[in-house]
Amino acid sequence: MRIDKLLSEMGIATRTESAKLARQGKLLVNGAPVGRADTHVNPDTDIVTLCGEVIEYKKFVYIMLNKPEGYVSATDDEREKTVLDLLPEKERRRGLFPCGRLDKNTLGLVILTNDGDSAHKLLSPKHHVSKVYKFKAKLPLSLSDKESLEAGVDIGGYFTKPCKITLYSETEGEITLTEGKYHQIKRMLEAVNNKITYLERISFGAIALDPTLARGEWRYLTNEEENLLLQKK
Ligand code: URA
Repeated sequence: MRIDKLLSEMGIATRTESAKLARQGKLLVNGAPVGRADTHVNPDTDIVTLCGEVIEYKKFVYIMLNKPEGYVSATDDEREKTVLDLLPEKERRRGLFPCGRLDKNTLGLVILTNDGDSAHKLLSPKHHVSKVYKFKAKLPLSLSDKESLEAGVDIGGYFTKPCKITLYSETEGEITLTEGKYHQIKRMLEAVNNKITYLERISFGAIALDPTLARGEWRYLTNEEENLLLQKK
């Protein structure tokens, strides 16, 4: 691939910036300066360095973010702050998008990636990827409310699929869904005449929210987490 494409995909430099860096002799392939940014490199075998730093090419990036309140799960929005605003410029240039949506006032785990095919699979109802949410309800949940919610409730013309609820107390617990309809958990609680007062996603498939990440912080998934997410052995 062209070296300027590699640098732009990595969010490191635009094509114009790469051309300048190449002319300035700051861009090296296997130790030798490349005069032109349209030089072809093999990202698997060639060693590309920029200003002395080795550039490890990765086509796709997978990020875990601990979403705070007040951010929408979109790539851009005219009025609201988006989860992309929590990432540095270099990452924002990589064409990342949130894999699924959390409401503006929902907290917790958001996976961001530029891997459209994998995101599509993870979100497709066919694949039944589980998502676990911690919740607090305004009113106590009775055993019959819990059983109704677990069996499936009508949230306005749609019957939710079976889910699992573990209560820590009468008003707090964890709910595991394998689908993600708009405002699903809030609408489910409304279906049993209750109301969500707190909602936080704590896992997405096999990926658990890293407890060391403060709200608003992010990190790359580890190789192991990537493999778990993408179910590679
Ligand atoms: N269900 C909701 O109601 N909101 C979310 O953000 C996620 C699941």
